Amino acid sequence: MKLEQHMVPICFTLNGKHVEVEVAAGETALHTIRERLSLKGTKEGCAIGECGACTIVVDKKAVNACLMIAAQLDGREVMTVEGLAKSEGLNPLQEAFLQHHAVQCGFCTPGVLMSAHALLKENPNPNREEIVKGISGNLCRCTGYRHIVSAIEDAANQLSEEEE
Ligand code: FES
Ligand code: FES
Repeated sequence: MKLEQHMVPICFTLNGKHVEVEVAAGETALHTIRERLSLKGTKEGCAIGECGACTIVVDKKAVNACLMIAAQLDGREVMTVEGLAKSEGLNPLQEAFLQHHAVQCGFCTPGVLMSAHALLKENPNPNREEIVKGISGNLCRCTGYRHIVSAIEDAANQLSEEEE
């Protein structure tokens, strides 16, 4: 006999839009985002909080969606990689990743972008050490990180210039 799952309604802001969705009591935010809301940019790697592929931004902080219970999203402001680009084009972080060849297989990229986005919101002018620390929860098997760090540094400079 299949046990009926207890479903709970939650609502939150996702990439600037109000969403309402029913979630199972114990499901992860990662499952909700990928499977119920069909935003596949957020990746599932380890599912135990070690790789950072599932990183999203919740109330301006980068978090591992695989470790967060979906019900905890209720009332929060959530951003996934799909929220980075605007109708006028890519976010400067995304542009810088392309220019610096900071993307190879791309599996880690959404998570790294979200960590970098949260970092630059908190600290618009990080040094390389601070950037390395900011993305320390994101594993990349391909790039060796140097290009990623340079891309984030470049994006930070561009964003600062835009604000001047
Ligand atoms: S899938 Fe969440 S940290 Fe690896
Ligand atoms: S680009 Fe392949 S894991 Fe980072």
